[in-house]
Amino acid sequence: MASDLLKYQPFKGLYLTYYFSSFFFIRVPLWLIWYLPSRNRPKPSWPLTRCVFIMGLREIMRLPKELGLRERDPIPAPAKGKLKNAELVVVEGLLEDSDAFCGEIRRAAGITGVKPASIPAYWFYKPESSLSQEVKARPGERTFLHLHGGAFHLGSARPDSTAANITRGLLAHSEKLDRALAVDYRLAATSPNPFMNPYPAALLDCIAAYRYLVVEAGFEPKNIIIVGDSAGGNLAFALVRHFVENNIPGLAPPGGLLSLSSWLDLSFSHVSAESSYARNAPTDIFPLGNTPEAQRESYANRAYLGLLDREEARTNPYISPASAHIKSTEGLFKGFPRTFISAGGAEKILDDSKVAAERLQADGVNVTIDIVPDAVHDFMTFTWHEPERTEGLKRACKWLNS
Ligand SMILES: *[C@@H]1O[C@H](CO)[C@@H](O)[C@H](O)[C@H]1NC(C)=O
Ligand SMILES: *[C@@H]1O[C@H](CO)[C@@H](O)[C@H](O)[C@H]1NC(C)=O
Repeated sequence: MASDLLKYQPFKGLYLTYYFSSFFFIRVPLWLIWYLPSRNRPKPSWPLTRCVFIMGLREIMRLPKELGLRERDPIPAPAKGKLKNAELVVVEGLLEDSDAFCGEIRRAAGITGVKPASIPAYWFYKPESSLSQEVKARPGERTFLHLHGGAFHLGSARPDSTAANITRGLLAHSEKLDRALAVDYRLAATSPNPFMNPYPAALLDCIAAYRYLVVEAGFEPKNIIIVGDSAGGNLAFALVRHFVENNIPGLAPPGGLLSLSSWLDLSFSHVSAESSYARNAPTDIFPLGNTPEAQRESYANRAYLGLLDREEARTNPYISPASAHIKSTEGLFKGFPRTFISAGGAEKILDDSKVAAERLQADGVNVTIDIVPDAVHDFMTFTWHEPERTEGLKRACKWLNS
């Protein structure tokens, strides 16, 4: 196959040279001209530079996967060297017989063959802070645990990653918080790569990080907020669900859940002509033309579900809590802590957030929903998405502080 040649030099180098020169010398100038009149922009409110960034992101996501540019090490390598206002810590994997390794997680791990593992995590500090991981939580001290996005197979918690723009952004705008932990949970992989770390590997790592915060760092569960963006938001909901559904000694559920552009339905069950998925296709960062059928068989879905029956993407609330295929939703979110849901008004998976908010509300959970007009998926990671990013962070922090 011709595309296979792209794996090898000099074809790979030639292709990339062609690609990036046409990108910078043809596409970008054309976009600049086309989007100059605001009536041509996907959203008239968008500044010209934002149109170019979004078109650029869409293009880059369409690069052939044969180039191998989007593959990451499924066991994230710890950051090296001196970190700025951040510190590396190793979170020990749960013990095989740990009380926290129970319920749905133990069931699914039995099917997919996942074992607990130790993983890197990062403490982020306010610039003026003199805290270190040696300093235990002070009485009443609050913190948050950030689970980054990346469709379960990309991204990182490292201080030099894109997701760190959220961790640092939240810290910067919250008066009451001096530090936060971001966890480099295991990433999933599947063919054409070696098959690795399906569900619930990432979740098991997030549970270990929560345990670390409570048991090693000494934070009270009620003073911990779980934060997740995109696929990290999916993990955040599942993590909270794990502690709400299982009464684990010494590990009560966290005090709150902050969901940012969360991906909460791997089965894309709400897609219709009127859904956000169709409506917002021209205004989001994803390439056009991904049908829900293609999404259900996407690399991310195949990697995350592993050997699980595909039906679980439709009906398992640990995987798709916003799915329309869950028969009885009454009580599905009972016992969840207070929740703040932020999503972009221009993002395709906006309906995931709306459905989750409705279900939480129906179960009597104190939920705040913040839909940011004309904002794209995971806009809080993008430092060019201003002023929406800063304003959204501020509203989330007001909620965090309350
Ligand atoms: C709901 O949460 C908000 C923000 O945390 C808080 O101000 C409000 O008092 C809560 N409402 C109830 C009924 O608990
Ligand atoms: C995230 O923040 C860094 C600065 O810390 C910046 O260089 C980078 O461009 C940001 N990422 C995005 C995608 O905006």
